[in-house]
Amino acid sequence: MNSNEQNTNTIQSLGDLVTALSEGERTKYDHIIRSTNLPKSIYQNYCSWSSDSYTRNCIVDNDKFELILLCWEEGQITPIHDHGGEECWVKIIEGEFRETIYQENEIGELAVVKSAVANTNDITYMIDFMGFHSLENLSNKRSMSLHLYAKPIRSCKLFDEVSGKFINKDLVYNTVSEFGTNKK
Ligand code: SIN
Repeated sequence: MNSNEQNTNTIQSLGDLVTALSEGERTKYDHIIRSTNLPKSIYQNYCSWSSDSYTRNCIVDNDKFELILLCWEEGQITPIHDHGGEECWVKIIEGEFRETIYQENEIGELAVVKSAVANTNDITYMIDFMGFHSLENLSNKRSMSLHLYAKPIRSCKLFDEVSGKFINKDLVYNTVSEFGTNKK
């Protein structure tokens, strides 16, 4: 494939990405996200930062899918969580992350089944039958990751380190873009 053909097949604008996801079947989402290569400057329009926690910035949220930008200060980490029955693709925009995948045994104990490092442009995938995961920013700098959920995830099961039990958590956004949200 020459470079012109490659460009023709690459999604290079947010508008084209939103159109492809809006018009495409969910079975095409893996291909769509792997074909996406937006200029990094686009993400600057959607980021926000907090020393308390990584931030969840809604780019697009509709009945079919949710596209959010997560912005991470050095060392920030998610709790161990599931994906509310939905599919989850994570594309690393900038930085180095560790993804740790856990499964519950018969007596409800969590065991690590995989731990891997993902770097800029890597894409990871999760769905609940694979287990639970956590993501951690390993970089010694601010980092960003793009998350595609289909359908949108309104709440998930999250492991509460204090009680040692899973709790249900409603998910919230730190910022919402001009594309808006369907979230009540
Ligand atoms: C989140 O959406 O807050 C967690 C990150 C993920 O599992 O994709």
